[in-house]
Amino acid sequence: MAPEKTFYLETFGCQMNAHDSEKVIGTLQSEGYRQVNSEEEAGLILYNTCSIRDKAEQKVFNRLNDYKKLYKSGKRFGVLGCVAQQEGEKIFERAPYVSLVSGSASYRKLPEMLARLESGENRITGLDDRQTDETFETEFTSRQNPYRGYITIIEGCDKFCAYCVVPYTRGKERSRTSDSVLEEARRIADLGYTEIQLLGQNVNSYKDPEGKLSFAELLAAVGQVPGIRRVRFTTSHPRHFTKDIVEAIDSVPTLCDHVHLPVQSGSSRVLKAMAREYTRDWYLERISWIKAAKRRISLSTDIIVGFPGETPEDFIETMDLLAEVQYDGVFGFKYSARPNTPALVMIDSIPESEKAHRLQVLLDRQREIQRANYANHLGEVIEVMVEGQNVARGQISGRSSQNKPVNFTWPNPIAPAPGSYLQVKITATHPNSLVGEAV
Ligand code: 5AD
Ligand code: SF4
Repeated sequence: MAPEKTFYLETFGCQMNAHDSEKVIGTLQSEGYRQVNSEEEAGLILYNTCSIRDKAEQKVFNRLNDYKKLYKSGKRFGVLGCVAQQEGEKIFERAPYVSLVSGSASYRKLPEMLARLESGENRITGLDDRQTDETFETEFTSRQNPYRGYITIIEGCDKFCAYCVVPYTRGKERSRTSDSVLEEARRIADLGYTEIQLLGQNVNSYKDPEGKLSFAELLAAVGQVPGIRRVRFTTSHPRHFTKDIVEAIDSVPTLCDHVHLPVQSGSSRVLKAMAREYTRDWYLERISWIKAAKRRISLSTDIIVGFPGETPEDFIETMDLLAEVQYDGVFGFKYSARPNTPALVMIDSIPESEKAHRLQVLLDRQREIQRANYANHLGEVIEVMVEGQNVARGQISGRSSQNKPVNFTWPNPIAPAPGSYLQVKITATHPNSLVGEAV
């Protein structure tokens, strides 16, 4: 009998990567591999990597270094995802015990690459498929998230923002047909999922290859799939954010009342240098559409501080924008120079200490904004979808439709199952979470 084939997979980075991993796991399982929970138990060790900032990339090389001793015991290593695509064959030089390097656009070839690996071949690469029109869909997706079904609707990115690796790591933009998205949504509903998250690096640039549905129409259609109670989508680009998305949220109650709309900077000058293709005013106009909706739609954003040439005045414009929009969530990042990107040749003249200072000022201010925003929920009864429990604190954790974390007490000794819905009365609030009791 052939020895059992086992693998360990660890995922870094965004939800696209988390979902890619679900597809990779399913593909490996269909090739006869069994997933295990530690590097030590595995015959094949895979890292699905992120290269969005230098820190994310370093994590992978640290991990590879930590475990390289396992190579001597006959284990094989593979690097998947964005660092794989970005560094390519250079990874074999930096980590010579790695046998497989594959970017996300090449995962369709995994069965073939695995067969080569099993036959003892080394230095196998999947790196040349970024210009493909095909998306990676597989009947074998092994869904790991117990309460949220992910569906990729568009892969890649054609925007080439000056700071961003994604167009290089994930290749050109390619959308799936709305028919296949809806078919997958129905399949997910049949599996018992009630929450769907539509994914794309640039989700609202979605273009149905058959021309049947616009992005907003697709949102509405997914929201009407029987059994589906919550639909989220991420990440939107302001350039393609159209009014009909707000109208869809207003008219289809299953579409969650939350929009994540990365602004990156409040200064039109910096936005231009970033090649974001919109101005501050253009962005704020979209925010005003969202705020004019009948439902109160929660807003969150991403911001980069310390982009090359960002002056103290530019930064103040970003701070003013925070005050104006009153986001419920902000992901703030210090600019990190990335390989291949146009910004790499711009002079990164802002010292690390100044970037760190700006980030701290931004996050401190945002914390106060959120403290006030979250306090508005005090006394409300909110529908929460259960995600898990904190046994030590005797609390159940979940999320509101607006994507706010809610921790609450529950009278019964048996915890409610992940994915179930409860009404929770909010009894206390923090800047990042709500506290309550199930009613
Ligand atoms: N440096 C810092 N932050 C970055 N992001 C993307 N590229 C960089 C970079 N080079 C941030 C953006 C993006 C989020 C996912 O990561 O804010 O929206
Ligand atoms: Fe990281 Fe971007 Fe790749 Fe996602 S797409 S894993 S955020 S580099």
